[in-house]
Amino acid sequence: MPTAVVTGGARGLGYAMARGLAQSGSSIALLDVLPDVAESAHALAAETGVATIGLAVDVRDAEQVESAFAAAELELGVADTLVTAAGITIWGDSIDVTPEEWHRVMDINLTGTFFACQSWARRLIRHSGGGSAILIASMSGHIVNVPQFQASYNASKAAVIHLAKSLSVEWAAAGIRVNALSPGYTLSDMTRQFMDANPELRDQWEKLIPVGRMAEPEDLIGMVNYLASPASTYLTGQSLVIDGGYSAI
Ligand SMILES: NC(=O)c1ccc[n+]([C@@H]2O[C@H](COP(=O)([O-])OP(=O)(O)OC[C@H]3O[C@@H](n4cnc5c(N)ncnc54)[C@H](O)[C@@H]3O)[C@@H](O)[C@H]2O)c1
Repeated sequence: MPTAVVTGGARGLGYAMARGLAQSGSSIALLDVLPDVAESAHALAAETGVATIGLAVDVRDAEQVESAFAAAELELGVADTLVTAAGITIWGDSIDVTPEEWHRVMDINLTGTFFACQSWARRLIRHSGGGSAILIASMSGHIVNVPQFQASYNASKAAVIHLAKSLSVEWAAAGIRVNALSPGYTLSDMTRQFMDANPELRDQWEKLIPVGRMAEPEDLIGMVNYLASPASTYLTGQSLVIDGGYSAI
């Protein structure tokens, strides 16, 4: 039975990707700092009929992450797919960013991604099984967004892209593939919170997107299912950018 662990899976892009994998028949473990992650897992099971578990975990804490992967393994078996969607953005002029803000973004987006990859790959390697990790980076790891300033986020996502490359080389012999998936502006709780506070933003962003609209989370599902499937067996160490053409201009 295919099984996937999805960090940041209680809502937003993580939940949508988990749903896409569940609809393809994967059991799903959702890991998220939100306490209602268990409810998200119940909702996903009710909707798709697959086995799920929701585990409250802060990805910045390596011990919590390891315990959550152990609990997921006990319930669902070793996961052959990992999606790391836990992430945050903090906007602000770089000269005013506090050390706490800088560390928070790096700790969740980069270090938390690494801890999840570690706990996931340990189990696969122990069981001599191959697998596919899909690290959710961002087009911001390739380009610089405007009008908002978000240097910490951009740097963290560029690092996630290089983390995917690095782990893909290190773990290739174990049959483990690691790719980054780099979305452009996508409608989610994260972006809605910024658009609600700045109603003119959506229009500004959409003028910069050749296809003329922000992505829906569902626009990413095909690529996630492809990366999780044997159809992509020879694809590793890449950052696949799904941004409606934003980074092409
Ligand atoms: N929405 C976009 O436009 C967009 C674009 C490119 C990349 N992304 C990336 O996609 C991912 C999902 O973003 P989203 O837009 O769905 O945002 P979101 O805020 O809706 O979801 C992020 C999830 O991560 C969880 N999370 C945050 N900190 C955590 C922690 N310390 N431990 C565990 N879980 C934690 C949150 O609780 C939330 O459920 C993020 O990595 C984000 O950077 C989003």
